[in-house]
Parts: sequence; structure tokens; C-alpha cells
Amino acid sequence: MEMKSFSKYRKRALSLVKGKVLEIGVGTGKNLPYYPEDVEVIGIDFSQEMLKKAEERRKKLGLDNVTLLHMDAQSLEFEDDTFDTIVSTFVFCTVPDLIKGLKETYRVLKPGGRAVFLEHMKSESRLLNVPLYLMEPFTRTLLGTSMLRETQKNIEKAGFKIERVENLFYDIVRLIVATK
Ligand SMILES: C[S@@+](CC[C@H](N)C(=O)[O-])C[C@H]1O[C@@H](n2cnc3c(N)ncnc32)[C@H](O)[C@@H]1O
Repeated sequence: MEMKSFSKYRKRALSLVKGKVLEIGVGTGKNLPYYPEDVEVIGIDFSQEMLKKAEERRKKLGLDNVTLLHMDAQSLEFEDDTFDTIVSTFVFCTVPDLIKGLKETYRVLKPGGRAVFLEHMKSESRLLNVPLYLMEPFTRTLLGTSMLRETQKNIEKAGFKIERVENLFYDIVRLIVATK
């Protein structure tokens, strides 16, 4: 399901990172090819299976600046204010406790640091939400993901200041840049 436009969105998101970067829910490492060379990346995921695939991709790409760790986004094993940039792409639709995960993300970001969220979420349009409501039982059961989370609102609730929002596919897929 990795459409061409998704790689375009990934490139766009990853062009905004710098310094010491934490990628939450790195999955199979689909973002790895898009990181700039001069950043240090820690990618975490709570699925060992996903991490195994990400590690294969990391090796194939010869990336020495990327470390992959088994960790739960809801209880990150890092000190407060550790990272210059935090990235999540299509993750907070699946993190079981969205608020807990976002609060942890906020905690480990340095003051003045940047969080880059590329996420799908519930639309502001009732009409656009109709297909999302129809898809919800299937995505929840088969993929463990929700189409109807109010991720942007929850990013704000977790304490982040939203710097800008780009609607990439209507307002269902959004690139949200936020600071601490
Ligand atoms: C839909 S995949 C997206 C993977 C990747 N970010 C991408 O863009 O291709 C969601 C990923 O988030 C991970 N994930 C979900 N909840 C998590 C949690 N609480 N802690 C760490 N990883 C989590 C899943 O294991 C999965 O790899």
C-alpha cells in the first residue's frame, strides 16, 4: 500500500529533521532512505518483527548513524529534553494510549526542539468522515489502526505548540510541525 505519494510525504517530513533525532514507531524503516546524512537517529518500535526488517534495511543502506531499539512509545527510556527532533509517520493511529505516547514524546523533546508528525486522522468534514467510519471496523480488526483519532487536537493537549499544518490528502493526512 506504499503509494508513490507516500514517499513524497516522507521526503517532505524528513527534510525537516536535524541533530539528534528520535523516530517513534520506526516500523520496517521506510523512512530510513530519506534522512539527511548529518543527523544521528534512534528509531524505536515495540514490535520485534518490525525492528528485524528495519535492521535489514539499515544494513542494506549502510547507515551507521541509525540505531534501532525495542521500546514502547508510551514509556520511553530516555531522559527529559534529550532530542532535537522527533519524527512519527503513521504511528499515533496505532499507539494504544495516544495521549500517553504523545506526552512521552513531548517529555523527551528538547525545549525549542521540533516534532514532525506525518499522520492520518479524522477529518473536520462530516462528509469526508463517512468513508472513514465505514473503514474503521476493518482497519481496527485487521490492522489494529484507527481512522478516527483526533491526533492534531491531542498533540496540542499533550503540550506541543503547533508551528504549522500542511494538509497533504484533504485534512485526513496531515504534516504537523510542532515545538516544545
Ligand atoms: C503503521 S506502522 C508505521 C511504521 C512506520 N512509521 C512507517 O511510516 O512506515 C505503525 C508502527 O508503530 C509501531 N507502534 C505502535 N504502537 C507503538 C508503541 N506503543 N511503541 C512503539 N511502537 C509502536 C508499530 O509496531 C508499527 O511498527
